Amino acid sequence: MNAANSNRATFGGRIAAVLAAAGSAIGLGNVWRFPGVADANGGGAFIIIYIVCVALMGLPLMVAEFSIGRHTRSNPVGAFRAIDRRWGWLGAMAVTTVFLILGYYFVVSGWTVAYVVNSAAGRVDSTFFARFITDPWQPLLYTAAFIAANHYIVERGVKRGIERASKILMPIFFAILLALAVYSLSMPDSSQAIRKVLTPDFGAVDASTVLAALSQAFFSLSIGMGIMITYGSYFKSETRLLPTAVNVALLDTLAAVIASIVILSAGVGDQSGSTLAFVALPEVFEGLPWGGFWSTLFFVLLALAAILSTVSIHEVVTVYLCEQRGMTRRRAARCVSAGAALLAVAASLSMGAWDDIRIFGRNIFDALDSLTATLLLPASGLLTCIFAGWIWDRRQFRGEVARSGGIDAKMFPTVGFLLRWVCPPLVAALFVFGLID
Ligand code: PHE
Repeated sequence: MNAANSNRATFGGRIAAVLAAAGSAIGLGNVWRFPGVADANGGGAFIIIYIVCVALMGLPLMVAEFSIGRHTRSNPVGAFRAIDRRWGWLGAMAVTTVFLILGYYFVVSGWTVAYVVNSAAGRVDSTFFARFITDPWQPLLYTAAFIAANHYIVERGVKRGIERASKILMPIFFAILLALAVYSLSMPDSSQAIRKVLTPDFGAVDASTVLAALSQAFFSLSIGMGIMITYGSYFKSETRLLPTAVNVALLDTLAAVIASIVILSAGVGDQSGSTLAFVALPEVFEGLPWGGFWSTLFFVLLALAAILSTVSIHEVVTVYLCEQRGMTRRRAARCVSAGAALLAVAASLSMGAWDDIRIFGRNIFDALDSLTATLLLPASGLLTCIFAGWIWDRRQFRGEVARSGGIDAKMFPTVGFLLRWVCPPLVAALFVFGLID
């Protein structure tokens, strides 16, 4: 650690570390992607395969990112550069990728807030979305409100902003999720949904299931984008990295599985993404007693899932500007919010007024989504595996992971082996199949 970085902020302890990282990991994907993918791939069988993917690929990569961050106490660009001067560009690639993701994630996040307000006012039905999304002002207004909340948290800093928000919002998220799960037991499809989640149907599993599980694990754990490097750089020296990563993965998987019960009970597992949340589900809620109340609660859940994820992305770019470009946190956070807001405006308008602006045949929103999800994320994930497995000096890496002895020291050889031999082919498969798909 160099002297300039020694007075950086840190999280209060292990619980803060777990909640902040879990806040990033648990996002819209847990609620609106996982359930449908699980449903189409053998239910419980998918969950088992998913957990294996998390263990073999997700955990080693997360531990590697935590170690890179904590060892260097730096943002992704500074971190890669500090370990090997020739690798700073990988950090730059990660920072660019998350910034692009922020642009369109802000847009859908804004929709969740719009749905909280409009569900509470009883204005949401199955036709609401089409009207809302083509309106030039409404989506922008809610996205602006969401960006403001996000900005507020990041500007307040690591401890008073991110740590505090995670400690308050994560428990609320889980409380709402549990309440919705209990409520969903009264829905007509609930016993079937629970059976699906609990009983593995391996007949529905094939090679594409494994790819789907890998890709979901990768995206859901927020790895390969410098986020876990950044958060790792705020961990205390005594925080144990492997148990922290395991806890993050457990919370993330738990959220996805409980969300599956809710989504499959509502009978909308054949949908995914914004169609599921903003069109199919409102239709279901419309026909249920107290539907407006539960629908509002559901969108609060989505908004909470979204905000801690966008905060983590925002933080990566903000701390990069602070440390590499010498800005104050305040100024850096403003630049990121303003820049992402511009992207968000373009992405938002591309769903309506600007739909005729096409990049490789896609509107701006979809172009940002596929550029990051199929190209940039897997590429930087693959390079991070290679860096941790093959480039970073083993003794230094081991020294960082095994600092607190115990299970971290014992498991290090396994983590190192997986990073060297197992993760690269798995992430490479994701990359290649994503491209040809
Ligand atoms: N992990 C989040 C999810 O499951 C998504 C996310 C992507 C978060 C990129 C941060 C950065 O939805």
